[in-house]
Amino acid sequence: MKRRAALDRFFITTPIYYVNAKPHLGHAYTTIVADSIARYHRLAGHETFFLTGTDEHGDKIVEAAAKAGSSPQQYVDTISEQFRSLLPELQISNDDFIRTTEERHKQVVRDILQRVYDAGDIYLSEYEGRYCTGCEQFLTDKDLDANGLCPDHKVAPTVIKEKNYFFRMSKYQDWLKQHIQDNPEFIRPEHYRNEVLSMLDMGVLDDLCISRPKSRLDWGIELPFDSGYVTYVWFDALINYITGLGGPDSENFSKFWPRANHLVAKDILKPHAIFWPTMLKAAGFEPYQNLNVHGYWLMQDTKMSKSLGNVVEPLAMRDTYGLDAFRYFLLREMRFGRDASFSERALVGRLNADLANDLGNLFSRVLSMTHKYFGGEVPAMGQRSHAEDVEILDLALNSFANYQQLFPRFQFGRALEALWELVRGLNKYVDVTAPWTLFKNGETERLAMVIGTLLGLMRKIALHIWPVMPQTAETMFAQLGGEFDPSAIDLGKEAEAFGDFLQTGTRLAKASNLFPRVEFKEVESGGQAEPRQDNPKKDKQPKQPKTQQPAPEVGIAEFADFQKLDLRLGTVLSAEPHPEADRLYVVKIDLGEPQPRQVVAGLREHLEVEFLVGRQVVVVANLAPRKLRGVESQGMIMAVKDKDGLQLLTATGLVENGSKVS
Ligand code: MSP
Repeated sequence: MKRRAALDRFFITTPIYYVNAKPHLGHAYTTIVADSIARYHRLAGHETFFLTGTDEHGDKIVEAAAKAGSSPQQYVDTISEQFRSLLPELQISNDDFIRTTEERHKQVVRDILQRVYDAGDIYLSEYEGRYCTGCEQFLTDKDLDANGLCPDHKVAPTVIKEKNYFFRMSKYQDWLKQHIQDNPEFIRPEHYRNEVLSMLDMGVLDDLCISRPKSRLDWGIELPFDSGYVTYVWFDALINYITGLGGPDSENFSKFWPRANHLVAKDILKPHAIFWPTMLKAAGFEPYQNLNVHGYWLMQDTKMSKSLGNVVEPLAMRDTYGLDAFRYFLLREMRFGRDASFSERALVGRLNADLANDLGNLFSRVLSMTHKYFGGEVPAMGQRSHAEDVEILDLALNSFANYQQLFPRFQFGRALEALWELVRGLNKYVDVTAPWTLFKNGETERLAMVIGTLLGLMRKIALHIWPVMPQTAETMFAQLGGEFDPSAIDLGKEAEAFGDFLQTGTRLAKASNLFPRVEFKEVESGGQAEPRQDNPKKDKQPKQPKTQQPAPEVGIAEFADFQKLDLRLGTVLSAEPHPEADRLYVVKIDLGEPQPRQVVAGLREHLEVEFLVGRQVVVVANLAPRKLRGVESQGMIMAVKDKDGLQLLTATGLVENGSKVS
């Protein structure tokens, strides 16, 4: 085995996840992206460190533990373990797993707090603010929606007044702005960089409240300079990236910090783009190298999130479609930085088109031809004399070069598309060169050239897809008669030099079907795929989102038509889950009538009970009553939907229940 010297280093992190609910597809996505990029860098010969973990302090955790009836420690131990045990299931190759309740982390947090305190950048002051427990942050007017609610959690923040310690973040505003301007890749993709620059332009940055009095919250890391307080959870959490490397004085910190790449979704852009670099600066450290920001996975246009309850279970996806197909879909489908809608229909489409048809087919047909024509051994290749042989090598050169340009810049969809140009090109090459005709005509030399070229390029494809589909790549290597050893590979060289095709005489394994096709069957609630034949765990399949119906044509409504509608305002008294349908609530509304109205509403995926109850809504009050899954609905609640989700219609102020909209 040849080993290369490490040419460069790379440090990749995921956010450390809150342990207030179990992991879902959103967490799995970030972790799979981090894993793929870590694997890519390892193949490129870079000494790589990949860190993930869990965020375990703060009010949110205390609340969740109380709800679950356990102590905070018991609770965080259980949920953190759920995150940790998911990692091998998704073939995540992390080098460490950090928990913020570990002693090693507490020490580093105190050390860094002390450095910032000693530098004079922490002071004590009285503060009154509106705090959102969901965000674990104080919110300003700018942060709230039109109803004065937190836009992410749809709850009114709590007003809190207390003495606290503050980090002089404002002092570093100009420095940060300059740093972002001087380093165009510091925050990427560019639209997030622009978003941060405009946040910095909007006015003076507030100093950051970094403590919580123990009288209110004692589940946290005690401040080293005042035992009456614990550290604000974000100040504690961000420091995990240093603890994970072994602390600020460790060898790993000096080795890897200059190449620190954080990976987050846009929900936590501000703490990573503003709090963290200024904290680092104040503590006397260099900023990280890059902040890589992705968008949200949406379900029916709404962010998939545990608080909204509209989540997809990653293990159910793996069990139904296979891990690599799932990983491939996530990376191929989401344009990094933008939101993407999750749909099993699209997943099945990709699986069948890209994996079963293109990639699986290429491998099975070329391997079986090698068995048929050359007894399963790699043939000796002669001179390359035909135009199509030269063309296919050109295509391969281009495809690998593009892939290697795009992948490390987090442009996974485009990188995979570049690779698939070659996969499809090779299938075409088979059709054009028609090995079966060469065999029939006894053109053995030419046949050996064609099969040898195919096998050699297939090996290179296998190693390029390893970061995304490790199991598949390893199976492909085994089929090609070799063993996959990432440490012996130099990805850069592989893409330029084609002298290292498979060795003549290597015995190949029998062809097998890497990706069987999957049927997608329409069922009442959208569609459901038939599971892979080799892993049929139907009971684990998640429910499908409803497919979008085309909008009916809207004609002209005469005034008389409009007058037929009786729209009234009423207050939601209760919202219960529908006993038979998990998208529906049975809502009771006070419409100023003697009895509350009962309306069955498809809001369950979008809004929580707590959000609905007490809210005034617009109801179509004269809609003919009808039964929805066995429960009578006497009207309809009006809502509006855009790319950011669903909002209810209401009046700009409170009105008497039963008031008519006109
Ligand atoms: N604990 C903080 C992070 C501290 S990092 C120093 C936190 N935790 S979290 O559990 O809420 O995780 C948020 C992250 O989970 C997002 O930034 C993203 O990586 C991932 N996702 C959660 N829901 C997601 C989607 N619907 N779509 C894509 N990613 C999502 O914030």
